[in-house]
Amino acid sequence: MAIVIPVINLKGGVAKTTTSVGLAEMLTTEFKKKVLFIDLDPQTNATTMLIGEHRWKDLNDEGYTLARLFESALWPDELQFDLKRTLQRNVSNILAVLNLDLIPSSLDLINIQDDLTRIPRGKFYSNNPYDILRKAIQPIMNEYDYIIIDCPPNLGVITLNGLRIANGYIIPTIPDVLSTYGIPQIINRVNDFAWEIGSSIETLGIVITKFRENSNVHNTNLTRLKSMIDAPLFSAIFKDNNQMASAADFTMEYATFRQKWGYGGQFESFYSLAKEVVEKYERTEN
Ligand SMILES: Nc1ncnc2c1ncn2[C@@H]1O[C@H](COP(=O)(O)OP(=O)(O)O)[C@@H](O)[C@H]1O
Ligand SMILES: [Mg+2]
Repeated sequence: MAIVIPVINLKGGVAKTTTSVGLAEMLTTEFKKKVLFIDLDPQTNATTMLIGEHRWKDLNDEGYTLARLFESALWPDELQFDLKRTLQRNVSNILAVLNLDLIPSSLDLINIQDDLTRIPRGKFYSNNPYDILRKAIQPIMNEYDYIIIDCPPNLGVITLNGLRIANGYIIPTIPDVLSTYGIPQIINRVNDFAWEIGSSIETLGIVITKFRENSNVHNTNLTRLKSMIDAPLFSAIFKDNNQMASAADFTMEYATFRQKWGYGGQFESFYSLAKEVVEKYERTEN
């Protein structure tokens, strides 16, 4: 069964999408894993990073996105979710990435987020509003080693659908006051939710993103994160770096991971992050 890892922070702009996409690509290239990426964020950034805007628009017009899954839970008599057509095989603009599949998101998810809490009970997908994603992807979960999930910046029903199937989750944060502010709440809420559903969801760790070495605020908060928050810190640190931001442009094509993400230590940081994750799960399996 796949190891499922959502990437969560209550704040936007902290590199959730960047971290999750890079981690997924790293797991396929350097660690030879088969990876499914699920984009749960209505902002759809990870989707357009991995398949581009044109392909996303076509899929969205046909109803082949996660918006349709959640709509079909709300209106089961009218709408159906087609997993086969929604699942995009062999995505990414890195040629060396061969084993990455995507379940794309949609901007239309924004409109239905609130309705999901009022889901009618008793229909196929709708016994439990947290179970919609789990039931839908069950047929393909065995195909993958890892499932990486990019989440919206909240702990609403959509994010909980990701946590419902999670083994552990990652919290990316810029080491500044506002980005780190909600981390204790995330950890508490996830622990409560895990207890509610009777499973264990491990806080794999906090990843420092957009780190500026010469910033006092960043250095102070990094120290604070090490000592004050009840979660491990990954040794990987992502420095503030322009090439990491340009990696969001799908229209460029790259031969290798390094070419896309740049040569300023990004490869090493993603490698270290992926290695910590893989070692954790391959140790506990044995
Ligand atoms: N290490 C970095 N250095 C510079 N810019 C970055 C870095 N990581 C991410 N970015 C950029 O910061 C912005 C926010 O990142 P993103 O991954 O979209 O965050 P989130 O998903 O949390 O909203 C994007 O424009 C992204 O390209
Ligand atoms: Mg994002």
